Amino acid sequence: MTGELSPIDKAKFAAARRAAELVEDGMRVGLGTGSTAAWLVRCLGDAMREDGLRIRGVPTSTRTAELARQAGIPVIGLDEARWLDITIDGADEFDGDLNLIKGGGGALLHEKVVATASDRMVVIADIGKEVETLGAFPLPVEVIPFAWQTTRALVEETLISMDVLGRDVSLRMDGEAAFVTDEGNYILDLHLKRIGEPRQLAMVLNQIPGVVENGLFIDICDTVVIGFGDGRVEVRDLGSGTVERESFDPGEPDNLFRDIND
Ligand code: 5RP
Repeated sequence: MTGELSPIDKAKFAAARRAAELVEDGMRVGLGTGSTAAWLVRCLGDAMREDGLRIRGVPTSTRTAELARQAGIPVIGLDEARWLDITIDGADEFDGDLNLIKGGGGALLHEKVVATASDRMVVIADIGKEVETLGAFPLPVEVIPFAWQTTRALVEETLISMDVLGRDVSLRMDGEAAFVTDEGNYILDLHLKRIGEPRQLAMVLNQIPGVVENGLFIDICDTVVIGFGDGRVEVRDLGSGTVERESFDPGEPDNLFRDIND
């Protein structure tokens, strides 16, 4: 991958590069999934090669595990790590309270387990992911394949009493077949348009037998690093209430792809 980056890729790269600075020597790091998280993995691999950073990574998907190995990051499982210093991951949407919709890449289950087992979760995102109210992005819900249509019917029934604008539910496909997660499950995408009470919805969905987990991340994310197409970066930290803005030269990221086949 060479050549000029699109503004959105510049934004993702800028956010990832700034977030990589939050990773310190010796840390156990949860590595997210998706195109923004892929930039992070590359930045961390670069920091290991060039600056001597030593970390161990816990990937949230087989795709990220492969990318991490290619980048030279030692990969361990969450049970081996036991607890993580930081998890850095992308998101499909984030709101002002740093509640998230995740799972666009189908890795929401491992992502939530890993983020929850971390001292700190940092989201990296381009500015287009910020929303006033969650729900324009379809909410992914991971369900077991057994009787998934019955589970879908129960989800639809549950949505009737929920504060949402849309109620269409679709099975995520991968070509002609159902998309299958790393845990061998299916994903239902809930086209809700607007989620009035995300906390309540997250709890209610997880009470349905057949539902494994949903893509609402409530009170899990501590910090968001937002990238802009011109290389600016904004770091919003919920704990300290601070907002830092930096102008960041996205530079030439080609060297990050030196040893990596995307
Ligand atoms: C994968 C995710 C991703 O973090 C989310 O879909 C954002 O992806 P991208 O960085 O490619 O926009 O939740 O399950």
